[in-house]
Amino acid sequence: GPTLGQLAAAKGRYFGSATDNPTLTNAPYTAVLGSEFNQITVGNTQKWQYTEPSRGQFDYRQADQIVAFAQAHDQIVRGHTLVWHNQLPGWVNDVPAGELLGVMRNHIANVAGHYKGKVVHWDVVNEAFEEDGTRRQSVFQQKIGDSYIAEAFKAARAADPNAKLYYNDYNVEGVNAKSDAMYNMVKSFKQQGIPIDGVGLQAHLILGQIPSTVRQNIQRFADLGVDVAITELDIRMRTPRDATKDAQQAADYRAVVNACLAVTRCVGITVWDFSDGHSWIPSVFPGEGAALIYDENFAKKPSYWAVYEALGGT
Ligand code: G3I
Repeated sequence: GPTLGQLAAAKGRYFGSATDNPTLTNAPYTAVLGSEFNQITVGNTQKWQYTEPSRGQFDYRQADQIVAFAQAHDQIVRGHTLVWHNQLPGWVNDVPAGELLGVMRNHIANVAGHYKGKVVHWDVVNEAFEEDGTRRQSVFQQKIGDSYIAEAFKAARAADPNAKLYYNDYNVEGVNAKSDAMYNMVKSFKQQGIPIDGVGLQAHLILGQIPSTVRQNIQRFADLGVDVAITELDIRMRTPRDATKDAQQAADYRAVVNACLAVTRCVGITVWDFSDGHSWIPSVFPGEGAALIYDENFAKKPSYWAVYEALGGT
């Protein structure tokens, strides 16, 4: 039958997965990664700690491996991520306040410049808001101020004029205080001509707790004139799995895919890796996991078939 990538393509979308370098030597893993998806996100190795580990010293070796894999398998690449408070090398925290804007611009110019023409979407800024909609007090916020996000988007546009530029965050899938803050930022960027093309809803979700307003939320961003992508989808549960939880998870995945398909500007969906054996969840949420669409042995789960059917597979 068709793959998830083929089904999504028939609907003018992509269906992709994040991946990381250690798994690229795992043959059963790469057999699925290379065939099932038409989009790949670089899960770790485009982050600042990998790409500019010391000031002015850029290293693209690991991320280039993932981009090459994607190109060899006709998969588009989402770049992740240019400016984030996490996985930031220590030296960035020590940059004097008056130099940090220049350092940020130089980082973006180098990284987005290196991948010019190879990355279709960039997550330019990641996770800049707190749950209450205030700005996270990152080093960029503290030393550059509110303007750092707009400055990052301007620098990314200059570095790669054809890449679609995204703001990406979590807990912004439904309508709430945090997604309101993101909405107000996008609206003001559009009014001021700051180059933003899309918002990424990460969608690290919990079994049985899909917000009821996902479709409405996607639509309100589309109505502002930006694209929307589901960028890091996983739906975690208390482990172990059982048939009841699997059925709920399938329904939850179906709901997310349907919410995206209901809005023309929702351009694609990415799972945050595809196999339960290669998920970030168990190490960060002890006792939880089984959040993805393949099990540890690369067998398709009910959640896979829910996505397959929602994308029109029979
Ligand atoms: O590479 C080292 C390895 O050498 C060392 O032995 C090992 C020991 O812990 O750590 C390895 O680094 C880990 C890295 O992933 C690569 O596997 C880090 O400890 C670990 O913290 C890091 O976690 C990543 C996390 O971001 C960091 O915040 C996850 O893999 C990655 O999936 C996750 O992705 C984020 C998105 O970028 C943004 N949205 C949330 C999402 C989930 O947290």
